[in-house]
Amino acid sequence: MKRIIVGNWKMNLGPTEASLLVHRLDEKLEATKYTEVVICPPFVDLFPLAKDLNRKKLKLGAQNIHYMDEGAFTGEISAPMLKGLADYVIVGHSERRAMGETDKDIARKVAAAIRNNLIPVLCLGESLSERHHGLSTKVVTDQLTADLADVTASDVANMVIAYEPVWAIGAGVPATPDEVKPCISAIRSTVEELYGEEAIGSLRIIYGGSATHEIVADFLRIPGIDGFLPGGASLNYEKFTAMVKASEDFE
Ligand code: PGA
Repeated sequence: MKRIIVGNWKMNLGPTEASLLVHRLDEKLEATKYTEVVICPPFVDLFPLAKDLNRKKLKLGAQNIHYMDEGAFTGEISAPMLKGLADYVIVGHSERRAMGETDKDIARKVAAAIRNNLIPVLCLGESLSERHHGLSTKVVTDQLTADLADVTASDVANMVIAYEPVWAIGAGVPATPDEVKPCISAIRSTVEELYGEEAIGSLRIIYGGSATHEIVADFLRIPGIDGFLPGGASLNYEKFTAMVKASEDFE
């Protein structure tokens, strides 16, 4: 099973800037052996980027989808529209949860992604006050249980789950391995309890929250961590390629 690094560009870079960054990445990235590399640009960039992307080096993901496949949902994008444009989709990012997205919406989005052959990158994470109240693992496993309500064990096996403590996102300082470990193992054991060994076998669990190349080796040593979801670091080709290299160099 390959590791995975998913760059979340958030609401940054239109088509011209996006193609410049991808050009730089293509120049600087070597074809990877142990790491799948995915970038998630804004929707408007997906079509131009998909046309001439070097898929040996980079794959594309979206940052969100609607849970319906079509209909009167002004301003929304559905999973079937991404056919041929994206292989992955981020679902349930804390910035979207903060805008009112519920676990019920997220469960339906995970199901919509799978039904349309997109691999969901499901984001989970607790707030700072939840952490201070000792609720980190409870919050994360409650989100997980609710968000996977509409899928089967074999669906879960192909997913990526990102543990992203909300307080570490955009903070410039990542969580420490000791802060992350209990949540990673809680995610693993909850998936195993709910869906059995079949699901846990090829599920990838990754870390997000101010992730840079500097934490790659330390975090890959944590049992059960298979990659990263960088935001800020994915907008800088030197920082992003340094992360990929650190993962490729990790034994
Ligand atoms: P960050 O973002 O790396 O800039 O903290 C991560 C994320 O929100 O996915």
